[in-house]
Amino acid sequence: MKFIFVFFLSIASLLSADFITPKEYAKMLYENPRGISCKNCHGIDGAEQILGHYIQNGTQRSFIVPNIQNLSFKEFKHSLTQFKDSKSIMPNYSLTDDEIVALYNYIHQQKEKK
Ligand code: HEC
Repeated sequence: MKFIFVFFLSIASLLSADFITPKEYAKMLYENPRGISCKNCHGIDGAEQILGHYIQNGTQRSFIVPNIQNLSFKEFKHSLTQFKDSKSIMPNYSLTDDEIVALYNYIHQQKEKK
């Protein structure tokens, strides 16, 4: 039984390289990088999102997540590689350069679809 499991596992890893296209890879990365989805805060395409509302000094305010569709690659990369201060709710991800490129292209493809 154990042998069969190991056998299938090795077959799966041999074949998995061709299982997904670069676009599917980028989508997967955007939707579940390091277990915390960009999509939860930035929506399906990176457009501006209202995450919720709160009351400050008696007035209702919205918590707005900025649009990330129109950043230059340099700005995009800078923001993902700099250490976030404690005021930011966005996580620090430690993404690789290739992952940042894939995410940047994915957001642009999503934007063009609309
Ligand atoms: C928990 C919510 C949350 C998650 C998850 C999240 N972000 Fe953010 N992101 C924010 C918020 C809020 C900001 C606004 C700036 C700040 O508070 O740091 C932001 C800012 C950014 C910016 C900079 C925008 C600018 O105008 O400079 C980029 C780029 C970005 N996010 C990309 C991503 C990517 C890519 C992922 C997934 C790998 C991700 N974010 C995951 C909440 C989130």
